[in-house]
Amino acid sequence: MLSKKIEKALNAQILLEAESSHYYLAMASWAESEGYNGTAEFLYTHSDEERIHMIKLVRFINDRGGKAVIPSLKEPASKFKSLTEIFDIILNHEILVTSEINKVVDICLSEKDYTTHNFMQWYVAEQLEEESLAKTYVDKLKLMGGDKGALYMFDRDMSTAAQTKPAAK
Ligand code: FEO
Repeated sequence: MLSKKIEKALNAQILLEAESSHYYLAMASWAESEGYNGTAEFLYTHSDEERIHMIKLVRFINDRGGKAVIPSLKEPASKFKSLTEIFDIILNHEILVTSEINKVVDICLSEKDYTTHNFMQWYVAEQLEEESLAKTYVDKLKLMGGDKGALYMFDRDMSTAAQTKPAAK
């Protein structure tokens, strides 16, 4: 049985994952409308993955006798300046998610809830992967410095990245 404190922390994490999915969907739509089809593909996939992260939490809470809350979401930004801005936002957002996940892990330890602690390890590993991926793209875009030809190649490669991204678990 989940303690109320853990249930609250996991529900807060549901909101964060749902917001991530929503946010990345808005970015995907912007990228598609700007003709960055490869990046759009990558972001649509990323948005789907975040939704799966959310559902995993919903099901875990309910399985353990808690009550998952499906939150309402604010309308995300719909205009972005560039791909560089998008990946900067993603990296900063994922850093925030990691720090929130670490807080949940801390609460699990203080509450001696080793089952939830074990469950959260999947998120800890996933965050490592997501931060490192976002950082790679931020670095690449910085190197390119807005060069149109390089951006074209970047976008083309993103479509392959979307296809080879490990399927959301
Ligand atoms: Fe599910 Fe990107 O955090």
